[in-house]
Amino acid sequence: MFEDINPGPRLLMGPGPINADPRVLRAMSAPLLGQFDPQFRGYMQQVSQLYRGVFQTQNRQTLLIDGTARSAIEAALASLIEPGDRVLVPVFGRFGHLKVEIAKRLGADVRTVETEWGQIFPAEVLEKEIKKQQPKLVAISRGDTSTTMAQPLAALGRICRAHDALLYVDATATLGGMDLPTDAWQLDVVSAGLQKCLGGPSGAAPLTLNERAERAIVRRRHTEQGLREQNQQDGEGPVIRSNYLDLAMIMDYWSDKALNHHTEATSMLYAARECARILLQEGLPQAFARHALASRALTRGLEAMGLKLFGDPKHKMTNVTGVFVPQGVDGEKARSALLGHFGIEIGTSFGPLRGRIWRIGAMGYNAREDAVLITLGALEAVLSAQGFRLPRGAAVDAALGVYGEL
Ligand SMILES: Cc1ncc(COP(=O)(O)O)c(C=O)c1O
Repeated sequence: MFEDINPGPRLLMGPGPINADPRVLRAMSAPLLGQFDPQFRGYMQQVSQLYRGVFQTQNRQTLLIDGTARSAIEAALASLIEPGDRVLVPVFGRFGHLKVEIAKRLGADVRTVETEWGQIFPAEVLEKEIKKQQPKLVAISRGDTSTTMAQPLAALGRICRAHDALLYVDATATLGGMDLPTDAWQLDVVSAGLQKCLGGPSGAAPLTLNERAERAIVRRRHTEQGLREQNQQDGEGPVIRSNYLDLAMIMDYWSDKALNHHTEATSMLYAARECARILLQEGLPQAFARHALASRALTRGLEAMGLKLFGDPKHKMTNVTGVFVPQGVDGEKARSALLGHFGIEIGTSFGPLRGRIWRIGAMGYNAREDAVLITLGALEAVLSAQGFRLPRGAAVDAALGVYGEL
């Protein structure tokens, strides 16, 4: 017989997942309830209300998709894209390519605009492309963890409206860590995951959508045969190609109609609820400032070690930092040594950046001084052991300088 699950102690300082806040883990161990138990329906309503705060929105339709962040991306795209629709995806890293891949599978006429990994798009470039392509939908990442760049979005919602395009934003990696005022920025659909700045495990994906998006989705509502009531009218639009990720049905499930769809992932809903409570108790501005402080301390420490940061520093995500693997150092060996000797996980990257940069996250529960200092100290020891010459102690001192002297 296998032994009890007993994972070793780990400090997860990669691009996500990160260590879940212990409060979230405690919430997850609460007893299960049935999905139509009035108490559970009350928790669902609370989740909607809490995430309106997190997304900074008044959107009635604010709910969870049961799955990792990718499931919410797919739910948004599957519910908005009709075969043949033109979709514009600005690609500045791996997760742009993911949206292209999903949109193509849905039969969209996908157009892309690309920039070098490590850069973002100025608003004028996106506006020009939207004018040229006239897409029905623009799908973009707020922060792409593969390159650690954060795309400015303040103007994009207005531009999309001026050209009658819907705007979907993948905020998986930034929600709760960087500002994303959904309503003020006129974002039509936004989704995220718990395992980054929200300090939870992966497995539930918060999503919000406004009335513009709701109208586009409701016209495609086709209620399942086994749930239909007499004289029920379907929407005039084509059926959504995914049953599980059909936002028209998921909205009905979350509404007062409580129309059966999937069996809500009870423990994940408890987790999502606690993530939002923790964040809102801290306050959004305070949480953003905590991530920015951790980022400053981490980057100063890495630079003091003699390492070079990756990408455009003006548009760096505050919760994940890309740093070049220095010449003469085996990046994978260093990552293994960090894990083996210190129990610390950091990330590599994908595609053109694989093996060239490490990605170090300080987010959610781990955007803390002790986590940053311990990671820097351990990385210094590991690099030194590989023969990389660096000023010993300088990294931790530099980070301590940012946090204020002892
Ligand atoms: C920007 C972005 N989108 C989507 C995903 C996919 O999330 P998940 O692995 O939870 O499906 C990630 C994960 O790193 C991400 O950073």
